[in-house]
Amino acid sequence: MWWWIIGTSVVGVVTCLKDVFIEVPIAIKEGSTAVMRCEYDLEQETLYTVKWYKGRQEFFRYVPKELPHTRVFPLATINVDVSESGANQVVLRQVTADLDGKYRCEVSADAPTFHTEIVAAWMHVVRTTDGKPELQLEKSQYTIGEKLRANCSSPPSNPPANITWFINDKEMGNGKVYRIPTVRSSTPLYKSVSSIEYDVLSSGKIKVRCQSDIYRVIGSETQVMLDEDKPRLASILQPHGHSSGLKEAYSFQSMVLTLIVLAVLR
Ligand SMILES: *[C@@H]1O[C@H](CO)[C@@H](O)[C@H](O)[C@H]1NC(C)=O
Ligand SMILES: *[C@@H]1O[C@H](CO)[C@@H](O)[C@H](O)[C@H]1NC(C)=O
Repeated sequence: MWWWIIGTSVVGVVTCLKDVFIEVPIAIKEGSTAVMRCEYDLEQETLYTVKWYKGRQEFFRYVPKELPHTRVFPLATINVDVSESGANQVVLRQVTADLDGKYRCEVSADAPTFHTEIVAAWMHVVRTTDGKPELQLEKSQYTIGEKLRANCSSPPSNPPANITWFINDKEMGNGKVYRIPTVRSSTPLYKSVSSIEYDVLSSGKIKVRCQSDIYRVIGSETQVMLDEDKPRLASILQPHGHSSGLKEAYSFQSMVLTLIVLAVLR
């Protein structure tokens, strides 16, 4: 068996000798719908059954020779949408956290060979709150030689998100990360908080971006563009003192940055 991840890394794929492969979401939000596919090439043979398992337990079977063709086996909270499930796929509605796990598709050809292939893939069920990471910077402007310090905290989730930093679109790694539990319940949620320090070595704008992701599938990001710190004489001479010369730092989360420019001008 070989594992590989399709370009977008949205699905896990396993291939066996007879081109049997399974596609399940690598990660899915709790409460959403999971579409699981099982593809195969029967060549000259006839299909006997397709069986779906979560762990060791069968929860769905497709048997073209029987009527109805489909059979659902009650298993924990699995909610099979029979109308959408069949020879090549099974659809699970309202996925719950305990459906996180390994799924198998078992395809059997009819007599005389009863040739059977099994393929498996893992689905993570993620509990997450909507929202973007919160990005905080120590200052809104920097000059060469200064140290930029920033914190970023992900929206609460379980499992906790990974944080990746980008400065001027260059990946800066994960920073120094710690996790903070935020909701105490049967499934606690965690915020990932990451801090970085960056030596400002050149002049010009600095774009700081913080990306929060879960299994590289579910994610969001927040970005702040910092203007270069340069002499602001021109702006002082302008009548209202708050136009172009006063640098506006902005972010997708407008509350994050506190502008201290006016104070500096006094
Ligand atoms: C980042 O978080 C640490 C720990 O909570 C805090 O001491 C520091 O002031 C924060 N820095 C910024 C830039 O918000
Ligand atoms: C976070 O990153 C680590 C290392 O790449 C990875 O093993 C882990 O699965 C990731 N966690 C999530 C929730 O994406």
